[in-house]
Amino acid sequence: MTIQWFPGHMAKAKREVTEKLKFVDIVFELVDARLPISSRNPMLDQIIQQKPRIILLNKGDLADPKETARWQHYFQKQGYASLIVNAQQGKGIKNIVPEAKKVLAEKIAHRSARGLKPQAIRAMCIGIPNVGKSTIMNRLVKKNIAKTGNRPGVTKGQQWLKAGDELELLDTPGILWPKFEDAEIGRKLALTGAIKDNLLHMDDLAIYGLSFWQSFYPQNLTERYALSEQELDLPEAELLMKITEKRGLREDYERGSELIIQEIRSGKLGRFTLDRYQEMSVQSEK
Ligand code: G4P
Repeated sequence: MTIQWFPGHMAKAKREVTEKLKFVDIVFELVDARLPISSRNPMLDQIIQQKPRIILLNKGDLADPKETARWQHYFQKQGYASLIVNAQQGKGIKNIVPEAKKVLAEKIAHRSARGLKPQAIRAMCIGIPNVGKSTIMNRLVKKNIAKTGNRPGVTKGQQWLKAGDELELLDTPGILWPKFEDAEIGRKLALTGAIKDNLLHMDDLAIYGLSFWQSFYPQNLTERYALSEQELDLPEAELLMKITEKRGLREDYERGSELIIQEIRSGKLGRFTLDRYQEMSVQSEK
């Protein structure tokens, strides 16, 4: 699903999320592990404020594990609980409830000290389109999605999905917009398939990807396209031409570009992280 965001949509999305936040104990903020900074909403901190949160680095299976570990550490240093997950295969999902209990330990202990029965933790998933919110929600509630209906004190229309005995999820995720005003972020989002193809020229995007792989994952590029050392060092545009030719697409660089982008997105060029910790961690702290 790709949404076209206009100022009116953004204001509405912000309003809706702010409204829903009142009903939850904790937020599960989903980010794409390949873009732990670029796939975050620019206003999220302002919207969530002090609400407890766990940052879920989803699509961990597609990301470069070394970079993912660095980013997880980065979030932890900033005081956020964070987990690496793969919603598609269900990896890491079982750690979410125990982590939520840790984050909410004080609140839980407070209830228990007052002699109150333990209550299911109420949570909502938030993130930009395509980070895997629906996939994670389906994983958490397992197959038989059971709606618990309206709860007393909850505004009409809030539906809760039971995810085991200890967690209830708001049935609709909070969908927020990415930071696409920044051209570099726009390219990164497009390369992972998070935003619509027709917003960018395929050849520009393929060239951007090739240049990135030349810098960070040259081995994968060489292996995938059987490149010689000299070919690997070609200027990006020439490399695009070379790969197009090697793939038997003659001079159809549009198709060559599509092929490269498709192969990047599907992981055929290996696991990758576009947000590089070393370059971006200091910048994002400002
Ligand atoms: P959203 O609600 O946040 O918009 O995202 P959604 O769950 O629809 O997931 C977007 C795409 O990302 C889906 O692929 C989904 O299968 C995939 N996805 C979600 N989590 C993971 C993950 O941990 N690893 C990988 N590799 N993929 C993940 P799609 O192309 O839209 O559909 P399909 O390929 O499943 O048919």
